[in-house]
Amino acid sequence: MTKWFLKMAAPALLTLFCLSTTLAEGPPPKTDQLLSKGATLFTNSCAPCHGIQGDGQGPMAKVLDPPAQDFTRPFQEWAVSAGDPRTIFEIIQNGIPETAMPGFKMPEEDIWALVYTAMEFSRKNGD
Ligand code: HEC
Repeated sequence: MTKWFLKMAAPALLTLFCLSTTLAEGPPPKTDQLLSKGATLFTNSCAPCHGIQGDGQGPMAKVLDPPAQDFTRPFQEWAVSAGDPRTIFEIIQNGIPETAMPGFKMPEEDIWALVYTAMEFSRKNGD
């Protein structure tokens, strides 16, 4: 009985435990506070390329090839993430190889703040 437990039930319980902690680490809720934090981070770190309005027309825009993403376009049409917030999160964290898009080492909550801020540019334009 004890052996059976160790062989079968313990791994199953461990799997369940891991699954539940992974799910618990999902996106934080989109609050006004998180959005205003995201706006500040965006102005400082992203606007030089993506533009203060998120339209891809920052001061660096002219020299970028491929160009910085225009976040005011419909969300589903974004070149790389195509409407998937989790992919946006990974892009901000890791950057996009072979492009000017750098990865940002910052706390996960700050990255989610930026995900929501970028998506907000698209939403404001009727998407
Ligand atoms: C040095 C210029 C530069 C900076 C700074 C920069 N980006 Fe980018 N970003 C780019 C370029 C260029 C691309 C387009 C790459 C492509 O189309 O393959 C891009 C693409 C992206 C995408 C992918 C959109 C999609 O799905 O197509 C996201 C999301 C993004 N950037 C977010 C950010 C955020 C958030 C910041 C600030 C924390 C930031 N970027 C800062 C240049 C930059």
